[in-house]
Amino acid sequence: MEKIILYGNNNPELKGKVKISGAKNAVLPAIAAALLTKEKIRLKNVPLVTDVHTMLTLMKELGAESNIRKNSLSIQVKKIISDEASYQLVTSMRASILVLGPLLARYGKALVSLPGGCAIGSRPTDIHIHGLEKLGASIQLKHGYINATAKQLKGTEIEFEKKSVGGTENLIMAASLATGETILKNCAIEPEVVDLCKLLLKMGAKIEDIGSETLVIKGVKELGGATHEIIPDRIEAGTFLIAGALTKGSIVLTRTKPKDLTTVIERLRYSGVKINKLNSHSIQVTGTDKLKPQDITTSPYPGFPTDMQAQFSVLMTQAEGTSIISETIFDRRFAHINELLRMGANIEISSDKAIIKGKTFLSGAEITATDLRASASLVLAGLIANGKTVINEAHHLDRGYEKLEVKLKSLGARIERLQD
Ligand code: UD1
Repeated sequence: MEKIILYGNNNPELKGKVKISGAKNAVLPAIAAALLTKEKIRLKNVPLVTDVHTMLTLMKELGAESNIRKNSLSIQVKKIISDEASYQLVTSMRASILVLGPLLARYGKALVSLPGGCAIGSRPTDIHIHGLEKLGASIQLKHGYINATAKQLKGTEIEFEKKSVGGTENLIMAASLATGETILKNCAIEPEVVDLCKLLLKMGAKIEDIGSETLVIKGVKELGGATHEIIPDRIEAGTFLIAGALTKGSIVLTRTKPKDLTTVIERLRYSGVKINKLNSHSIQVTGTDKLKPQDITTSPYPGFPTDMQAQFSVLMTQAEGTSIISETIFDRRFAHINELLRMGANIEISSDKAIIKGKTFLSGAEITATDLRASASLVLAGLIANGKTVINEAHHLDRGYEKLEVKLKSLGARIERLQD
């Protein structure tokens, strides 16, 4: 078991420059999109995180040949050799469901395990399934698997009942190879969805009104190869902004895209954190002595991201007064709170709300990470806790953060990783 150890006592303010990696949530659909063509897809700025390796394992099982060097990936699926995403892979990474649309569109069939529940709550797939059925797929749920077939997907109008990032991405990819025109309404408009559309355009797809909630997709017979640079990870960037704010330090984030972080930046500024946009790809955070509490409600983009909720909760333990954090996207995304309580935070959970009373001094403790963003929040808490913090199950962190402890160390944090 891997552990992260932090020595918060006398921890210096974090200072210096940090380069933000490519976005995990943008690269995963981009890799799945390689299933749509026989030709080669080249991706740059690929974060070397476990989820990328898991996706490549799945793609290999489906017939992909790939080569990853430094942060560049080339991937080619000359021939699809299997249509199955196994239970083992889907339970270890829900984003495996992103192969469903592309497999159906190019291969005519897909057998993808249902993800079931996970550490952050139930993960339904109805939006993906209903959308693909509307495109003409025949879908059965049997033995825990989504069994989908379609001779040829046909364009139609689909209005998503609820905004879903993965659902929108699956349907965009499927519709790109369907016959005729597909109109997708109530689409998720996260920057990662936009990035996927840009890659698909380079591959020859015809998608109109990219970035809006209604997309018009004119299906094409074939897609081709492309080269694409993945956007910077806005959640990693947000995590470093909070690290700077919490440690009252001064960090410059480079290779980032402040525009994608507008809501997070607004909320940080509201609490008194100084954020300076240096240019279109660099931003500086400077901490403050007195943080103001505030209420936050997670919502789809451009709202406050659920993937920043755990990290922001840690920041609010240091604000003077009461903050209420409402989680509206996932139903069990407060696992980090129990660990924060063990470190001395004063937080009450009432259904989908965490009521945080600050300011509380945190003390180091042995704690356990339960999911990706919860583990990032525990690292943040460990940075400012008094004494030694031991975070068990640190592998969760590696699913989405590239060398987090190395980057924090370069900024002055006393952090290390131990293998048990
Ligand atoms: C993606 C992100 C994840 C982020 C989430 C919300 C990736 C790889 N993962 O996950 O980091 O936390 O967006 O921003 O990009 N829902 C349904 N039916 C469905 C699908 C989803 O009801 O068929 C619900 C979910 O339970 C949730 C909401 O829709 O309440 C949003 O989920 P969704 O946007 O689909 O999340 P993911 O794409 O899985």
